[in-house]
This record gives sequence, structure tokens and C-alpha cells, in this order.
Amino acid sequence: MTQRIAILISGRGSNMEAIVRACAAERWPAQVVAVVANRPDAGGLDFAAEHGIATAVVDHKAHPHREAFDATLADVLDGFAPDVVVLAGFMRILGAAFVRRFEGRLLNIHPSLLPAFPGLHTHRRALEAGCKAAGATVHFVTPELDHGPIVMQSVVPVRADDDEHTLAARVLATEHLIYPRSVRWYVEGRLRLVGGRVEQAQGASQLLLERGTVPGAAGDEGPT
Ligand code: GRF
Repeated sequence: MTQRIAILISGRGSNMEAIVRACAAERWPAQVVAVVANRPDAGGLDFAAEHGIATAVVDHKAHPHREAFDATLADVLDGFAPDVVVLAGFMRILGAAFVRRFEGRLLNIHPSLLPAFPGLHTHRRALEAGCKAAGATVHFVTPELDHGPIVMQSVVPVRADDDEHTLAARVLATEHLIYPRSVRWYVEGRLRLVGGRVEQAQGASQLLLERGTVPGAAGDEGPT
């Protein structure tokens, strides 16, 4: 049966776009049924509308507190009957009640190698810490911020002349690979939780190494 995907965004929505394109191009057994933003000016809303996807705005500024915002958002989402809710650059913290309502079908991408650097300014913090590698993590959402079972990670090198913008761009390019791949696995029923960890049913690699830049990674085929 066709799985219904709802995507939450706050801004430009490049991860959302990558998922929409992959879903169509790879003929997933799924459809992106809604793109919902918490900001009326979220750039990604235009792309969604142009692609015939229903859009909605739940403006956090129009709500007195987080619980009220979360409740409206949950009701709007339920209206689209999603099988999976995908957070793609969604910059609001969701409360425990919301997370529990969608638990097990709520995915997020975070631009760091979790559990390092949860929260904001991940690239700046990775540079300040002198990290030699950075990356992104797709994970199931739990009430604790930027925690939860890890579906897939990408690793890129940190270069000596990087600033947070060059590093962010290198990481973002890998986000556009690992997020569609993870959502595809979800809608195809290939992810299972074993002892609080995520396994890919067919044993595919849950790690993407930026090709050609990490010693020993040249022969790595990346995600399959
Ligand atoms: C991405 O780097 C995502 O990991 C982070 O915010 C950025 C959103 O980019 N949470 P986009 O809106 O998907 O283009």
C-alpha cells in the first residue's frame, strides 16, 4: 500500500526537495502528501506547491506556548493521515506529547555525528573542537532533543581551511543522499529496531563516507 509521507520544514527545504525528487524518480511505494511549515515565508513551500503537494502553515508565532503549537501541528498532520512524518530542517523543538503521538514514525536529520553536538551551530562547534571529521545523522525522534535510534550517518573530512559555511555545504551534500535513502528504507519497511538500535533488514550499509576524501574509502560503494 502507498505510504503517506508528511514533511515538516522551516526554511529553504533542500532536504525536502531531495526526498520529493527521489520518491518520484525511484518510484517508492509512497507519496509525499503534505509539506507543513512553521513559518509562512519558508522557501520550500513554493517548491512543494509547484509539485502539486498540499502545503500548510502552522505559525508558531500565532500560538501562546509550545503545547498549543504542538497540538495544532499534530491535528493538521493527522488531517493528512501520514504513515511517516519527516522533519527536514524543522527548527522548532517538539514537546514530549507530540513526539509520543508520532513515535516510531517520526524521523529527523541533524547536521552532526550524533551523539556529538546536539542543538544549534553544529559546524562551528565541530571546527572549534578541532574535529577531523564531521557529518550528518538521520534518526528516529525521541523526546530528548537530537537523540533517538540512528538510521544512517554520513562522514566528511574537515579541511584545514574550512569555515562553518564550507563545512556546512559539504555536509549538506551528503544529507541529500542519506535522508532520501533512509526515508525510502522506512516506507519499504526495511528498518527494524533491535535493542534500541536500528537495523536495515537487508544489511545495507548505514554509513556514507564522502567518496575519495577519506583514506580507505575509495572502494566504498556508500549506501546500497
Ligand atoms: C540542514 O542542514 C539540516 O540538517 C538542518 O538544517 C538544515 C536545513 O536545510 N537541521 P534545508 O532546509 O533542508 O535546506
